Amino acid sequence: MQPHERIIFPLDFPNAKEAKKYIELLKDHVGLFKVGLELFVSEGPAVLKTIANIAPTKVFLDMKFHDIPETVSAAQKAANVHGAEFITVHCDEGPRLLKAVVDTVSNGTKILAITVLTSLSEEDFKDIGISNDLQDPLKLVLHRAAMAKNANCSGVVCSGREVKAVKEKFGKDFIVVVPGIRPEWACVKDDDQSRITTPFNAIVGGADYIVVGRPIKTHHNPVEAAKKIEEEIAEGLKKRRN
Ligand code: C5P
Repeated sequence: MQPHERIIFPLDFPNAKEAKKYIELLKDHVGLFKVGLELFVSEGPAVLKTIANIAPTKVFLDMKFHDIPETVSAAQKAANVHGAEFITVHCDEGPRLLKAVVDTVSNGTKILAITVLTSLSEEDFKDIGISNDLQDPLKLVLHRAAMAKNANCSGVVCSGREVKAVKEKFGKDFIVVVPGIRPEWACVKDDDQSRITTPFNAIVGGADYIVVGRPIKTHHNPVEAAKKIEEEIAEGLKKRRN
């Protein structure tokens, strides 16, 4: 995999027209485009064809499924037709839900389990009702990653602060996608991310892919931002090998 192919760019835009601008701009500089709630709710599955028509890149369908197993399994059945590289499901509702999605995949899509959102910090854990013994992000991520592994998920989404421990515990083939990426030069206004890391540190820790949105999207030159991140990834890979 080339360094830039490890970059996942989230198409966090209100409509296909806006998204198209960035797909055209970044198609040779990132590995995957991620379609999440905003774009999917506004444009529906047609937006996946829009992406395919512009760029032969893979698509990450970030559905963050979270419902009863029967409902989520039916949604995955409907999603099979889209041939996405990755689809996401939350860990919070336990292994039965994860298994229901994994068992419904019929077209090679890899299921990634969301462990603990990178926007959450230790202070949030009490408010959501996480038990005292799991109020350390690393412990909770490892607990949920074990659940995902047992349910035969292809990997997990976690922060760059936990990626090393996840790789050590679950092996290099267990895919880890890291969002909450903030290069040192990035300047994100009113940032909601909490457990952040640089591209370099996430890659050194073992991340297979990094999700980078606003540092690229809000940069005065998005292509230049993507190239800078690509260089950091290359440096990180060198360091990882040594
Ligand atoms: O880099 P930036 O913060 O703009 O990235 C935002 C994107 O990362 C959103 O599409 C969001 O859904 C995604 N994300 C994620 N998992 C997290 C945190 C953010 O997929 N834990």
